[in-house]
Amino acid sequence: MNQKLELFFKRRSIRAFSKQKISEEDLHSLLEAGMAAPSACAKDPVRFIIIDKPEIQNAIAEFLPNGKFLPEAPLGIVVLGDLNSAHANSESYMLQDCAAAIENILLATTALELGACWLGVHPREDRIAGISRYFNLPANIIPVSVIALGHPAETKEPRTRYNPSAVKFNSWS
Ligand SMILES: Cc1cc2nc3c(=O)[nH]c(=O)nc-3n(C[C@H](O)[C@H](O)[C@H](O)COP(=O)(O)O)c2cc1C
Repeated sequence: MNQKLELFFKRRSIRAFSKQKISEEDLHSLLEAGMAAPSACAKDPVRFIIIDKPEIQNAIAEFLPNGKFLPEAPLGIVVLGDLNSAHANSESYMLQDCAAAIENILLATTALELGACWLGVHPREDRIAGISRYFNLPANIIPVSVIALGHPAETKEPRTRYNPSAVKFNSWS
């Protein structure tokens, strides 16, 4: 591991949180980092719904079979993509832009010594439909993921998942 890149290896999925709230300043910084991510043709189609009310977090967790711990986090960020704003109105570009923004937020979370976990929504149709119905989203706004976020109540070691067999040079063979 290159120590200059420590942030990337320190970022781990955190699924246990203390009750301590996220400050407005930290939330702003995290969103600003998300919005600094690469975006196809700089169309910036990524949208965010911040959820910090327990009843809303509970309702959203109902749609997330692997995100039942969302209400334990002081904050959730629902990440959505606007198909009308995406490059070429393409779902693929929209999803790639959202993924880049999500990863930026996760890395920023680590840099601020907070913890977070990416909770999958897209492409599971039942999760997309449930969240869309709950927030009464227009058809062009697609939920992509939810980020559970807070002060960590678990520690995880930095790690590399470097896999030499995933890398080829100059050909596929
Ligand atoms: C598209 C996507 C969906 C994910 N969905 C979930 C999820 O629903 N629940 C969860 O606990 N973790 C989820 N994760 C987190 C992965 O389980 C985690 O990143 C992976 O196990 C590697 O561990 P690490 O993040 O600690 O490095 C998701 C990650 C991605 C990229």
